[in-house]
This record gives sequence, C-alpha cells and structure tokens, in this order.
Amino acid sequence: MSQGKHIGKVIIDHNKHQDLIRSDGAYLITGGLGGIGLTVAKWLVSQEAGEVILVGRSEPVGEALNVINQLRASGTQITIKQRDIARQSDVADLFSELEQVNGIFHAAGVLADEALSKLTLSQFSKVLAPKVRGTWNLHQYSDSLDLFVLFSSISSLIGVPGQANYAVANEFLDSFARMRLGQGLAATVINWGPWKEVGMAASQNISKQLDRVSALDSIRPEAGIQVMEKVLLEELGQAVIMPLTQSSHAIFSQGEIPRYLLQEVFANDPNQALMGAATQALSLLVKQLREELDNVSEQDKEDKLIEVISQQIVSIMKLESIEMISLEQPLIELGLDSLIAIELRNILSDISGVNLPATILFDHPTIRQLAAYIAEQINTP
Ligand SMILES: NC(=O)c1ccc[n+]([C@@H]2O[C@H](COP(=O)([O-])OP(=O)(O)OC[C@H]3O[C@@H](n4cnc5c(N)ncnc54)[C@H](OP(=O)(O)O)[C@@H]3O)[C@@H](O)[C@H]2O)c1
Repeated sequence: MSQGKHIGKVIIDHNKHQDLIRSDGAYLITGGLGGIGLTVAKWLVSQEAGEVILVGRSEPVGEALNVINQLRASGTQITIKQRDIARQSDVADLFSELEQVNGIFHAAGVLADEALSKLTLSQFSKVLAPKVRGTWNLHQYSDSLDLFVLFSSISSLIGVPGQANYAVANEFLDSFARMRLGQGLAATVINWGPWKEVGMAASQNISKQLDRVSALDSIRPEAGIQVMEKVLLEELGQAVIMPLTQSSHAIFSQGEIPRYLLQEVFANDPNQALMGAATQALSLLVKQLREELDNVSEQDKEDKLIEVISQQIVSIMKLESIEMISLEQPLIELGLDSLIAIELRNILSDISGVNLPATILFDHPTIRQLAAYIAEQINTP
C-alpha cells in the first residue's frame, strides 16, 4: 500500500480494511514493550496479524510479561528482540534475523525533560537517539514496507515547557515522514497528544498535570488506536491526534482551528453531549460580562477589566484562587501556552467587543497591561 496519497475529508472504505494488516504479514514495533507499543501489539493481534515483533532494549517484566502471555494465547506469533535501535549494528542484526517485515510501528522513545537554559548535551543525545538515529537505521531496511508509522508528538507542533529536546526529536520524525513520502515510500507520522493509563505521559503523571490546563485532554488507549486505524486506512501522511476539553471545543466551534480528527476521538465519548452545554454556558457568561463592562464608566473600565481578566484566567487555567495571580506577573509564568492564549483572546474579544490581535497576550503579557490595552481600545472612539 502506498501512503500519503491525500489529505482532506475522510470517507472510510471498509473494503480497504483487508489490506491494512495481513494475516501472513509480520509487524515490528520498536518500543514494543512500552505502554503504547503493547497497545499497538494488542490491536495487531486483534487484526489477526501473522507475527508481531516487539523490540526494546530491556527484557519484558511485570505487566508487559502478562500482556505478552495473553497475546501469545491468541495464536499470533509474538517475537521479542532485545535491541537498541539507535545502534546501527543492532538494527542490522535484527533485520538479518527476521524473515520478513511488512510494517514498522516506530514507537521507541525516551524523555529527559529540563528547562531550556539547563538542558545538557547528554539530555539532548539521549532523547534524539531512538528518534533520529533509530529512524535512520530503520529507514535503511524499509524500502518495501506497507506501513511505516512514526510515533511523534504534539510537542513538535506546540510548545511544551521543558521539552525542547523532545520537540526537536519529534520534529525530525515529522520531516522524515515528509521525505519518505516524497520518495514514494510508505510513511505516516502521528503527532500524538498525551495518552492516559499507559505510556510515558501516564507514568509521569502528565495527564494529571494537564487537568490544570483547560485546553488539552489525554487520549484513552482504545480511542487512540481507533483513530490511528482510520488514519492508516485513509493513507494519511501526517495526522495530529489530540483530544480537547469541553471549553477548548468552544474555540474549535468558532472555526479557529480545523477540527477533523478530534471529532473522531470524541465521536463515541459519552461526554460529547456535554460539549454543547458547555458552549452554551460560555456564551451566556460572555453576554453577562459584556453588559457589566458596558455599565461601568470610562474611568472604571480598566479596574473592571482587571477583575474580569483575572476571573477568566482562574477559570481557564483551573487555578485554585484569584490570589495565586499577581497583576504584574507575565501569564506565561503561570503556564499559559498558545492554545490557552487563543482561548483567552477569543473570550476577551467577545466580552470587550474589540477584535483583539492574536498576539495580544504576548504583546501585553501581564493582567494589568492587558486591561490597560483593552480599556484604551474600548474608550477610543
Ligand atoms: N505516551 C504518550 O503520551 C505519548 C505522547 C506523544 C508521543 N508519544 C510517543 O509514542 C512512543 C511510545 O511512547 P510510550 O508512551 O509507549 O513510552 P514508553 O512506555 O516509555 O515506551 C517507550 C519504549 O521505547 C523503548 N526504547 C527507548 N529507546 C529505545 C531504543 N534506543 N531502542 C529500542 N527501544 C527503545 C523503551 O524500552 P527500553 O528502555 O527497554 O529500550 C520503552 O519500552 C514514543 O515515541 C513517544 O515519544 C507518546
């Protein structure tokens, strides 16, 4: 199957399903003993793949062993290879031992998070090794594959504090997929948002930290696999799979950002029904705040705006109280990222009736500066 033929509206052709995973095919998963790797292995077994080859540097232990035993009971051949895919000789050995490989799911990865100013060369090398060297090594044996799926992250698309090295490593995967597609070779790169229950984000409690930030949600493994299957069936070259929370769904419904795949994740979600309600509640709140702002005198507008902006920040960023914010503190220091910035800008535009520029939170980074700017815009006839 050749990859990346089109980008656009998805129409699922169920007849193609037979082609995706072959019962006489062998599928290699790098990082195969990790959280997402084992989830992909379960899916391959459910698709009746002929053989699943799990590659990692360590031996399987604990939960991974249990899963492998269950998978073996299914009848699919499960092969485990202890190899470091960042080492060219390990990859050469690996492919010399394998009779055939029809698809690769390249899910090997490590984290070494650190503030940019403190990042060391070894933290960079550690994170780049499986994604840069590993990808290149696999590419040498990947001319005639049906599938070459690269597990990238949204970190290469939006800023994630402390993950400059990880963002670079994943951006390499994004570019590499484009290069392979340009050469007519199979490639699909998926920029995943954080997963819950399994994998590196869940083990580092990143999904819990995300609960503080309103824009992103984490991916349920079954939903992630379901969307990945659609992406592969449709032969997309690149896909971003990133579920959003209810409040950020409001941003999407305003048409700021394409909503294509996210809808797929939400499609079977019982919380879907809550989305409409949340959007409705938001517009009522906006209407009420706008009336309040209209009813204060020109001199008092700035103070009223300070109050309104502070309340919105507490709500959007899920802070415990308004006392946590200083009017003089740049919002970026509170963890404001680009998605939250869009959400806040949109709400402030609606409340003030002023079409605020997309860069407003970066040009006027503190609450006091923001309020002064918006008051000036309102008061200027
Ligand atoms: N979990 C998420 O939320 C998330 C989000 C976005 C993207 N991703 C990407 O998805 C992939 C899978 O992540 P995960 O959450 O399943 O992580 P994980 O549970 O930590 O699994 C990653 C696996 O990669 C293996 N590995 C690392 N370096 C390797 C190397 N040089 N050679 C062979 N195996 C290597 C590790 O095993 P050994 O240490 O034993 O080698 C580990 O089992 C990663 O590429 C990650 O960047 C994950």
